Amino acid sequence: MLVENKHLTTIWYEQETDKVKIIDQRLIPFELKILELNTVDEVCFAIKEMQVRGAPLIGVTAAYGMYVASKENSDLDYLKKSAEKINATRPTAVNLSWALNKIMINIRDTNKDHLPNKILELANQIREEDINNCKSIGDHGYELIKKIYEKNNEPVSILTHCNAGWLATVDWGTALAPVFVAHKNNIPIHVWVDETRPRNQGFSLTSWELLNENIPNSLIVDNVGGHLMQQKKIDICITGTDRTASNGDVCNKIGTYLKALAAFDNDIPFYVSAPISSIDFNIENGIRDIPIEERDAEEVSYIQGLDENNKLQKVKIIPEGATCANYAFDVTPAKYITKLITEKGIIDAKSSSISKLNN
Ligand code: MRU
Repeated sequence: MLVENKHLTTIWYEQETDKVKIIDQRLIPFELKILELNTVDEVCFAIKEMQVRGAPLIGVTAAYGMYVASKENSDLDYLKKSAEKINATRPTAVNLSWALNKIMINIRDTNKDHLPNKILELANQIREEDINNCKSIGDHGYELIKKIYEKNNEPVSILTHCNAGWLATVDWGTALAPVFVAHKNNIPIHVWVDETRPRNQGFSLTSWELLNENIPNSLIVDNVGGHLMQQKKIDICITGTDRTASNGDVCNKIGTYLKALAAFDNDIPFYVSAPISSIDFNIENGIRDIPIEERDAEEVSYIQGLDENNKLQKVKIIPEGATCANYAFDVTPAKYITKLITEKGIIDAKSSSISKLNN
């Protein structure tokens, strides 16, 4: 999508330099910094410390991480250990193990000398597929937005949580893909952007994406959504997912569950954009079995922003000695999800529909 009118993606391989490049998302919206991933340790740091984040992008980064590993040492043993190391960086997004498994399965019969090239080819393919899948999610979701517009004949009001835009994928995004497609098709839209404490992906990333695409939006703190729904100021909620269980339970950024409850109580459709790479067909019950990441308490006790001299600062916002808990994700039971928007179409959040995607 666009950044200052130029097309940019979140990760790419640069042939001339033989380097994998990413955007350091920790600095957005204040600075656009491009980084290289040169070692497996740098790849692990990038995922763990959230220079890259968002389930699909974590998966694509892991795939390129295996290319980086193969350049360090193309012994199968080293590659297996590197895959384990990368897989341990974040526990919730299933795209991480999905991408690593895909690479490991597809290199089984490859000669050692050809491994780097083969892995690069696979990583490029995973990246390309992610772009195409997100675009398809956008096209399917666009039909929903168009229908609302045709019915009400006024700007469609959409609430989203966290950042499930292009920064969370390679391009297009998942939850925001329908928004981008609708905007390109001249459907008037207004997006309510949840702050998404503690890391504020809504305020810092989603708003930046929407501003760069000239899509009207308003930033709201995390507790506002319920009020807006009661006031009938939201037509549809669309979020992403880090791992959706085979029963349709959706794990996504912390706070998604509360928005889904409010939407259910107010009869507002709650859609989840779910690329098939974010579905864990091995997990039958999301609430019981999806691992929930707990991150450093500092993310809760400090907040980052620009000071009056435009310098990026972190400031402490809690009393000395206070204890924080930092749960990064929650699970929304399938019964609160209106439908899932996948690259293969819009389906019920039910095992009978989800299992058909597993081939
Ligand atoms: O902790 P993050 O920023 O990686 O969490 C991201 C989300 O929760 C997104 O909503 C999710 O990955 C779906 S994005 C396409």
